[in-house]
Amino acid sequence: MQEAERRSWIWPRSPEAGAGPSNDLAAWRHRLHELAAQGGWRLQELGPVLGEPLTSLHLPARRGAPRLLIASGFHGEEPAGPWGVLAFMAALPSAWRGAVDLRLLPLVNVSGFSAGQRFNRLGENPNRGYLPAFPEAPSAEGRVLKRHARRLTAWARDGLLTCHEDVLLAHTYAYTFEPHRRPGALTRALLSEAARHFELHPDGEVDGCPVRGGCVFNHRDSSFEAWLTARGVAVAACYETPGQQPFERRVAAQAAVMRAFVAQRLRASASSPASPRPAAA
Ligand code: NI
Repeated sequence: MQEAERRSWIWPRSPEAGAGPSNDLAAWRHRLHELAAQGGWRLQELGPVLGEPLTSLHLPARRGAPRLLIASGFHGEEPAGPWGVLAFMAALPSAWRGAVDLRLLPLVNVSGFSAGQRFNRLGENPNRGYLPAFPEAPSAEGRVLKRHARRLTAWARDGLLTCHEDVLLAHTYAYTFEPHRRPGALTRALLSEAARHFELHPDGEVDGCPVRGGCVFNHRDSSFEAWLTARGVAVAACYETPGQQPFERRVAAQAAVMRAFVAQRLRASASSPASPRPAAA
């Protein structure tokens, strides 16, 4: 993986999607701000990180609505996530307005995205170092996110989805975190949507983890998703599109899995009685 970690991964975007390379930060930001203004999203800066804003977006909802966080762009060679967030925002079902308290962290590793490189410009991994039980040190992005630990935990109270890619693979898979001994409704919903776009990873091993039915289940490491799971969010998942497949199909798959995530959490919230919850930070 080391050569893959150092090299730049850049794909052309289709003319229908606006053309340009997948690492076009100015075009990506322009479209983000356009969609945020059109959709009534509130912007909030959590950064700066390495001289760039670390932007979050919020779509407020009525009291008692489930609180969900979608976070993307931790690794700069995985651009389908941040572009997928834009596709998700552009096609948000109107019935969800007011029904879900939705937060987005659309691009965590800005310097990596610009370079098309996995790590940030200091060579740090923005998806490691969140839990002290592991040896990895947090990145510049991770240090800022850890400062917002209470707020992020409240934002993701009823579910967290993180959006990644595996540049060396042609199959798709997900890491999921559910408070059961076996994968449950969240895992089934995400993987059934994922399988509509790409073949699921064969059973065996992926990135050193056991994978079954396209799922690595309740895997503990020092990632952002394992950290917020340890901090008590209801469920979490990390979805991986295959970098060896066409770029626009990966973007479409990311947006579709984001929609499947929100839809599943809304169903779960409608079917379970309300319970007392801590207030938002
Ligand atoms: Ni990744």
